[in-house]
Amino acid sequence: MTLKHVLMAALATAMFAAPAQAQDNVKVGLILPLTGPFTAIGRQVENGVKLYMAQKGDTAAGKKVEIVVKDDGGNADATKRIAQELIVNEKVAIIAGFGLTPLAMAAAPIATQGKTPQIVMAAGTSAITQASPYIVRTSFTLPQSSVPIADWAAKNGIKKVMTVVTDYGPGLDAEKWFSETFTKAGGTVESVRAPLKSPDFAPYLQKAADAKPDAIFVFVPAGQSAQFMKQYRERGLDKSGIKLIGPGDVTDDEVLNDMGDVALGVVTAHLYSTAHDSPENKAYVEAFKKANNVRPNFMSVGGYDGMHLIYEALKKTGGDTDADKLIAAMKGMSWVSPRGPISIDPETRDIIQNIYIREVKSVNGELYNVEFATIANVKDPAKAAAK
Ligand code: PHB
Repeated sequence: MTLKHVLMAALATAMFAAPAQAQDNVKVGLILPLTGPFTAIGRQVENGVKLYMAQKGDTAAGKKVEIVVKDDGGNADATKRIAQELIVNEKVAIIAGFGLTPLAMAAAPIATQGKTPQIVMAAGTSAITQASPYIVRTSFTLPQSSVPIADWAAKNGIKKVMTVVTDYGPGLDAEKWFSETFTKAGGTVESVRAPLKSPDFAPYLQKAADAKPDAIFVFVPAGQSAQFMKQYRERGLDKSGIKLIGPGDVTDDEVLNDMGDVALGVVTAHLYSTAHDSPENKAYVEAFKKANNVRPNFMSVGGYDGMHLIYEALKKTGGDTDADKLIAAMKGMSWVSPRGPISIDPETRDIIQNIYIREVKSVNGELYNVEFATIANVKDPAKAAAK
């Protein structure tokens, strides 16, 4: 029997075993890396989810929403096994979380076979939403921020760029979309890739320094930004006159203030800044800091907004947890997030959001990504191009 058959058989058994009565609880399985090198991502998402529920209460459409939190340790096999267990044994109506691309991808066939909505709250490779018709994303895609920063670089006197990216889905998306956009605008690009596991950035930074570009474009996943910036400083690159640019993962708000002066002047394009100037974000940052003693970062809003999506979809279906009805309810939904206005593209189930160009500055003695330009309502460029 294939995995699909095992799962279908288990689901059929489970359906007969459970009497067809109205369930008062809606269980949401939240699968995140809460141990291992990507714990920081998992914690930000979990805390975003928990803050939403603390603020809005734990009922939606008259049903109690119950979160079942599971740690996959950042291991894709574990994500897949946990997703299956949650659907078959725990009877969750929705699976959510997914701290890294391989983890989101591992759960996608389970969502499809188990007919369960999968809310991707953290991962950023463009293709994720195409891996299952039951996936809806509240995080971001890397092309979404890599194209705007390429446009900015081309318009701001940068002609030669070295890209340094982590060698997996989101890094490859970032490299491709930055390079294509930037070369079309007349620039030249050279590229190097660092491994995802236990990276030592020194050799790549040395190569980048030797090439003497106007700028280094970097993508490293949240959780590796502090290490990257430390090695950037150790090689003296912050004093080299080479500008550092990229998607905003490298200036992750949670750890930015501890990076020190090396981060000053780094220009990035991203979906969220702790310093985003709106009443919604001021309230969000204050509540998040109070609850968790750290700044919220871009991962936290994926969790917070993912819960909003789930609550509002349940309200629209009148508490019905049928997967097709929930997905239909989510398509086209729009609201104001702490990050700004966002919506779910009804065609792709991917997030449409503003991308902000920001520069790291010291404000009242603390480092922040200070937004200075907005590109409104950005759809994932990778999917727009494929049409
Ligand atoms: C991803 O694995 O999709 C990912 C992880 C961390 C990031 C961005 C993307 O900061």
